[in-house]
Amino acid sequence: MTKLICSKCMKVHETTHPTTCPTCHASKEYLYNFKNSDAFLKKEVSRIIQERKDLGLDGLVEGLDSIIINTEPHLRVAAATDLIRSTGLSFSEAFEDDQFKTIVLTHPDSASFLIRSRKQNVQHENNPFFEFNTHPKSQHVPNTRLETFLFTTPNIKKYVQIQKKRGVNFLTDDIIQDKNYSFIQTIPSQYTGNSIGLIQWHKENKSYQSSNSEKLHIPLEKPKKSYLQNIKQLDHTATRVRATDRDAAIIEFMELTNYYFDFAIYVKLFNSITNVARLSADDFAMVFTSGVVPYKNDEESGPTEKFIHNYGTRVHHMAFHTENIEETFSQLKQNQMEFLIGLVGSEKDGLKQTFTKPSPSTLLVNEYIHRYGDFDGFFTKNNVTQLTEATDKQ
Ligand SMILES: [Fe+2]
Repeated sequence: MTKLICSKCMKVHETTHPTTCPTCHASKEYLYNFKNSDAFLKKEVSRIIQERKDLGLDGLVEGLDSIIINTEPHLRVAAATDLIRSTGLSFSEAFEDDQFKTIVLTHPDSASFLIRSRKQNVQHENNPFFEFNTHPKSQHVPNTRLETFLFTTPNIKKYVQIQKKRGVNFLTDDIIQDKNYSFIQTIPSQYTGNSIGLIQWHKENKSYQSSNSEKLHIPLEKPKKSYLQNIKQLDHTATRVRATDRDAAIIEFMELTNYYFDFAIYVKLFNSITNVARLSADDFAMVFTSGVVPYKNDEESGPTEKFIHNYGTRVHHMAFHTENIEETFSQLKQNQMEFLIGLVGSEKDGLKQTFTKPSPSTLLVNEYIHRYGDFDGFFTKNNVTQLTEATDKQ
């Protein structure tokens, strides 16, 4: 039995006689032997970069504006409070419209965080992400997920026109036009459960409130703890995807943004691959962590495959750039933050990192990361190995 990926429809098939794609009937030359090798991905990456140019997508998607974390209604304030107490983020505004109650947290150097919950009864038809959320260890919070990565665009109309022609599906038929911004988002990806949103700002003063929203008064005071000032911008997030979907997830993300695939780190011991997509060295990085083979059982499978079995595909952690990381780590611990692992890495290696236990309100882990001096590698293999191992405790 050979596992093949079709480069036309991106479906993976197991077959004994590879002739044509069973899904889209593409001919044999579209079928690649799926071994999670980087050869297929690298070939696709250059194709996509050319295609983006040809279609006029280059420069149409800029950096990360914000992320949207949806929670259960009763956990929305708790989720925002947790973040205010464990990062450099501060309360900016809160409002409700006909669909959502939203709390916005900001930091001057970082993408913003929209913490929200849906107002309608929690039912499948009201939440397009529902099916991605209900797994053995996540079904008790079926509306909880980091749902959307929102990128700025200088021309949302052109973007939507091009992407619709390519067959991309959006959650709304039309762009949502408001006084402060125009906005649209894709349906959740079948590979990640994440949505990509686009926002075009009309005003310098960025408020996420819409014309029909009302201000909410939520007293969210930031604790006066100086170590929180050491925690700066969102450096990267890591989304966990199935072994068979790694290439498709990265390719899809590249087709929807102006990001490129940078490199992958293989951790054979734990059957895990950490893949990094970037826009530039200074921008937020999108990390995809995948298994090497599909989940078998808890005894034989690695932490990444087990996580997906228990929680589904989703963002596993949000990493924050942190100054004075030793002191910040010890202060966080003294203030009741619980960690999956101590600080890993060293100044000599070029970076130090650690993982908190997941927040019960969002299921998300915080990573604190510091890169020393002129360290130009994004990660080190040793740190990735230790951090991957630590997530086995989830
Ligand atoms: Fe990370």
